Amino acid sequence: MSDKELVELAIKASEKAYVPYSHFPIGVAVRAKSDAVFTGCNIENVSFGLTNCGERTAIFKAVSEGCTVLSAIAIYGHSAKPISPCGACRQVMSEFFAPSAKVILIAEDGMTTVETTVEELLPYSFTDLT
Ligand code: THU
Repeated sequence: MSDKELVELAIKASEKAYVPYSHFPIGVAVRAKSDAVFTGCNIENVSFGLTNCGERTAIFKAVSEGCTVLSAIAIYGHSAKPISPCGACRQVMSEFFAPSAKVILIAEDGMTTVETTVEELLPYSFTDLT
């Protein structure tokens, strides 16, 4: 699947966001090495701390379907500037993506994008217990 299609799927995925508290929908599409694609959205909870970000929803869907090697992620938010993932999601991304994996950040117009990498978003990440 092309990057453009991945971006379109991320935008579409934001329509499923469950955001009664923040009213800030996020949509995400993840491409696995196998070329399988998984989408996700943010899912909020009345106990705010239990909210799951869109990035982790999509990544956990991929992993739970057996895809642990991921190659690209597109993240869409209703924000004038391209949305940038939170610290917790960056750490989860570093678990399943190569450092050089492509990250596409998308602004609310669906056109303005920034391309970066997992390593750029989380340099010197914690990777090993030994
Ligand atoms: N959110 C995400 O889904 N991803 C991020 O990287 C940052 C924040 C969600 C959590 C919450 O539902 C809303 O955006 C406002 O913080």
